[in-house]
Amino acid sequence: MTSQYRMTKFRTAETGNDIFELTHDEPRPLKDGEVLVRLDWISIDPAMSGWTTNKRSYMPPVQPGQIMRAFGVGEILESRFEGLKIGDWVTGFTGMQTKGVLKGKHLRKVDVSIAKPQHYLSGLGMTGYTGYFGMMDIGKPSAGKTVVVSAASGAVGSIASQFARNAGARVIGIAGGPVKCKFLTEQLKLDGVIDYKNEDIGKGLDRECPDGIDIYFDNVGGEALDAVLARINYKATIVVCGAISQYADWHKQTGPKNYMQLIAQSAKMQGFTMKDYMHRVPEAFIALLTAQKKGELIFREHIVDGIEKFPESFEMLFSGGNQGKLLIKVR
Ligand SMILES: NC(=O)c1ccc[n+]([C@@H]2O[C@H](COP(=O)([O-])OP(=O)(O)OC[C@H]3O[C@@H](n4cnc5c(N)ncnc54)[C@H](OP(=O)(O)O)[C@@H]3O)[C@@H](O)[C@H]2O)c1
Repeated sequence: MTSQYRMTKFRTAETGNDIFELTHDEPRPLKDGEVLVRLDWISIDPAMSGWTTNKRSYMPPVQPGQIMRAFGVGEILESRFEGLKIGDWVTGFTGMQTKGVLKGKHLRKVDVSIAKPQHYLSGLGMTGYTGYFGMMDIGKPSAGKTVVVSAASGAVGSIASQFARNAGARVIGIAGGPVKCKFLTEQLKLDGVIDYKNEDIGKGLDRECPDGIDIYFDNVGGEALDAVLARINYKATIVVCGAISQYADWHKQTGPKNYMQLIAQSAKMQGFTMKDYMHRVPEAFIALLTAQKKGELIFREHIVDGIEKFPESFEMLFSGGNQGKLLIKVR
């Protein structure tokens, strides 16, 4: 028996996240090229709000009736694909399900002897790669630069912040609430924090960045982006990783008001997705694993038990309830 969450309808401002139903069935027999995977860990991502909205994006939306798209990690139970055998561990787009019949060529083998399986969804997976490439390839931090990161205590933000800190930059994190801010100063050793839920972001930036901002790693868009734009330095770089403050309604997004500062400061804003970097994943993997083994990088994970918790856990990403990479432990 396998259980899976299916999308019942496209997400809109009216439906909110009430668009999933839990169904159960028996996995069908394998065809050539397919494997049966038992999922042990599944990732819950803000991107799911975009994947369920009927709007142009970097990949087509999930269609009503389909199993919800999700990254997972698990073990092969049966195989009719040459490259994978029973007992191998794999990751990829496995879907929000306990077991799945999947195309072997779409999965990547992982080595669970060098890292915990769930790390392949957090620091050693897309989350880690996104923080690494966004910060190191686009932001390019170095000593003497002031870097600001929003949603800094979250999955991607915490990786990006730590790489900037390790590069010698002065790093200021924006996060919601004293617990997250304490994590940023005490665990991640950032140079300053702004608790946007309890203080004005602009005033916080004036206090923490008196010499302006050279690099902004943006995960939230909206008010924080405008406050940063008003304070960027000459030739600043804004890395547009995400805009979670705008995800409630993908059909109505508010653009930055202060974008003309890009002209005045000869600055740039650059978006990206991991599609741009898939050919460089081995580089990121080595950088992330090496830094973690040396104690220079923390992978923070927020684990919920059981696939049935998916819809309520997904909501946490938008209320700030998660403390790190949000993962479902399936077994
Ligand atoms: N470009 C890419 O390829 C790529 C890949 C992965 C993720 N992303 C983006 O990166 C961002 C972070 O994703 P993640 O997986 O690392 O999630 P996460 O940071 O672990 O969790 C989301 C966090 O966003 C903050 N947040 C939620 N609603 C907010 C709002 N209205 N205003 C300000 N902050 C808000 C909350 O933190 P606080 O409690 O601190 O508010 C929440 O905990 C998202 O925008 C996501 O879409 C982009």
